[in-house]
Amino acid sequence: MGISVGLVGLGSFGSAFAELFNAHPLVDRVALCDRVPERVAEFARRESFRKKLRPADTFATLDELLKTDIDAVVIITQHWLHAKQAVQALQAGKHVYSAVPLMCVPDGDEILEWCDKLIGAVQRTGLRYMYGETTCYRPQTMFCRRKAREGAFGHFVYAEGEYFHDVDHGLRQVRDNRMGTVAGREYAAELAARYGSRAAAGPMHYPTHSTAGPIWVTNAHMTKVCAWGQPARVHLDFYGKADFANETGFFLMSNGATCRIAEWREIGFPGREIFRLYGTHGTFEHDTWYDKKAGTKLSVEEMREPLPDDVLTSFAAVSGESKLYGGHGGSHAWLAHEFVDAVAHDRTPAVSAWDAVRFTAAGVMAHKSALKGGELLDVPDWGDAPG
Ligand SMILES: NC(=O)c1ccc[n+]([C@@H]2O[C@H](COP(=O)([O-])OP(=O)(O)OC[C@H]3O[C@@H](n4cnc5c(N)ncnc54)[C@H](O)[C@@H]3O)[C@@H](O)[C@H]2O)c1
Repeated sequence: MGISVGLVGLGSFGSAFAELFNAHPLVDRVALCDRVPERVAEFARRESFRKKLRPADTFATLDELLKTDIDAVVIITQHWLHAKQAVQALQAGKHVYSAVPLMCVPDGDEILEWCDKLIGAVQRTGLRYMYGETTCYRPQTMFCRRKAREGAFGHFVYAEGEYFHDVDHGLRQVRDNRMGTVAGREYAAELAARYGSRAAAGPMHYPTHSTAGPIWVTNAHMTKVCAWGQPARVHLDFYGKADFANETGFFLMSNGATCRIAEWREIGFPGREIFRLYGTHGTFEHDTWYDKKAGTKLSVEEMREPLPDDVLTSFAAVSGESKLYGGHGGSHAWLAHEFVDAVAHDRTPAVSAWDAVRFTAAGVMAHKSALKGGELLDVPDWGDAPG
């Protein structure tokens, strides 16, 4: 028997996942939920949703959906809502998939408090939580995880993770979309009431695309950080109310490796989300694996792990063969599959709550260090996922 899944947040990113969750062979009932009714209606009228969507299973808010007997919720709402909604859903007895970031708000202590609350809720309820970090299912990351498990890197020496996304590359449009709905207008009012003119912190409060690679592949975590930031000099309209527009942190990891993380939003570069990993016996840079003798360039097919055949066939029917794995380096299909499979087989998802807080806390503490001019700070940790 399959599971039932409620899709919460059908905006631009949630829309990219709706057909995948609906098509998964282990999902036999789907519910739709968004505060913008037209976003629900758009999917409800599709032929592909006829089989698994019951007429009563469309909802205007998460609160309403949580009163039903749906097994799991997929939360792809705006970035300031995820942790609160995830904890609310766990407390209501639902398994949770959450889009990244864990939570992005101006106050770093508030983010750390929600890291703690999330781990507590997962432990207390025993329900499954998966963090939808796209980096984890890029082909490069899958390849590096395999190499790390084989011990092919040797001892980890150094890692670099970076997310370069200049504001001019679509970020204004993204902000306007997210703030333009009812949830966005409520948040704008909350921000003004709580923070006044200081309405943001810096990019290290959304660090997950750069921290995830080094942390998830090495199965280690950040223990210390010193970081520096640059206040906005170009995009004053966007980052003028924030502490910094670019932040760079240098970390010590629990395995003794060092790591440099760069989160830059004012950068003359087309944009990049990448990590590099160096070990005593092997190294991964871009699409190339190196040992001490030579480098071997790898194709996407050599790096990626294939999905099970029945999942591939179902996804191909909705995505088409050429876009089978979806966006963000082909990670979408794997993210949807991993969550459904973990819930259906009652196991901890590969990207767990314990991973989510590690990716997040590293950035929060980097921002705190940058505010103190590079002071060396400890990074809190909540331990490994059980099992
Ligand atoms: N690479 C990645 O992992 C990646 C890429 C893009 C976006 N994201 C994340 O995905 C999230 C969504 O981004 P988006 O661009 O689709 O945002 P969006 O604003 O287009 O969509 C969010 C939707 O959530 C709905 N919503 C909010 N509160 C709700 C509630 N209580 N009940 C029901 N619906 C509710 C809103 O009405 C809206 O339609 C963001 O947090 C973003 O950070 C991650």
